[in-house]
Amino acid sequence: MEIKITKDYQEMSELAAKEVAKVLAEVKQPVLGLATGSTPVGLYEELSKMELDFSKTVSVNLDEYIGLDGNHPQSYRYFMNEKLFNHINIDKKNTYVPDGSLADSQKAARDYEELLSKLGRIDLQILGIGNNGHIGFNEPDRALSLPTHVVKLEESTIEANARFFDSIDEVPKEAITMGVGSILKAKKIIVLASGKAKASIIKSLVDEYVSTELPASLLKFHPNVLLIIDQAAASLLD
Ligand code: GLP
Repeated sequence: MEIKITKDYQEMSELAAKEVAKVLAEVKQPVLGLATGSTPVGLYEELSKMELDFSKTVSVNLDEYIGLDGNHPQSYRYFMNEKLFNHINIDKKNTYVPDGSLADSQKAARDYEELLSKLGRIDLQILGIGNNGHIGFNEPDRALSLPTHVVKLEESTIEANARFFDSIDEVPKEAITMGVGSILKAKKIIVLASGKAKASIIKSLVDEYVSTELPASLLKFHPNVLLIIDQAAASLLD
C-alpha cells in the first residue's frame, strides 16, 4: 500500500483528480469505480473543473441505501448526479449505482454483481473509509461477503450518516454494497481520507494486521493501492 500525505484536503482532492485524469488519458473506454461520502466531494469538484472527456467512461458506484429511490436527496444516486454527473459529459446511461428502491434487494445485489462481471474490470476504484474501517458499506464482521450483497448498517455508521438526514430515524438501516471481492478486482484502488476524525482508523489500517474486523485492511492484499491522506488524517502515523 503506497501512502501519499498531502498538505490538506484540497491537495488530496487535486492529486486524486490527476490520477483519474491519467486513467482517462490511458484507457479507451475507462471504467471508474466511484464512492460517496463527504471525502470525495473535493475530487468531484476538481473533475468537474478540469474539462475532461468522460464521453467514453462507464462508472459504477460502490453502494446505495435500501429504501431510497434515486430522487431522494440522500440517495447515493442523487448525490452522484449532483456532485459529479451533472457537471461532466458522461452519458448518464453509463453511470451505475445499485438500485435500493426495488422490492427484492437481494436480486438487485445479484444483478449488480452480474453487471460488474459483464463490464469485466474497474480501471480505477475510488474509496473513502468509514470511522470503523468500512469500505463501501462492508461493515466490520467475523466474516465478509465477497460479491455485491445486502448489508445491515452498524449503529455507528447510522449515527455517522445521520448528519445528512433530518433525524436519525430517517437513516436507512440497510444498504446494497459491492463486496470486498468486487472491490479487490479493480486494477488500481485509491483510498482517500481527510481530517483528524480519520486519524485513528488510518493508524489502525497502516499498523495493524489484516482482519475482517477492519474491512479496509483487506486492501493490503491488492498489489496496486494508493492511500492519499491529508496531514490531519496522517497525524497519528509514526
Ligand atoms: C459512507 C459510505 C462510504 C464512505 C463512508 C465515509 O458510509 N458508504 O463509501 O467511505 O461513508 O464517509 P465520509 O467520507 O463522509 O467520511
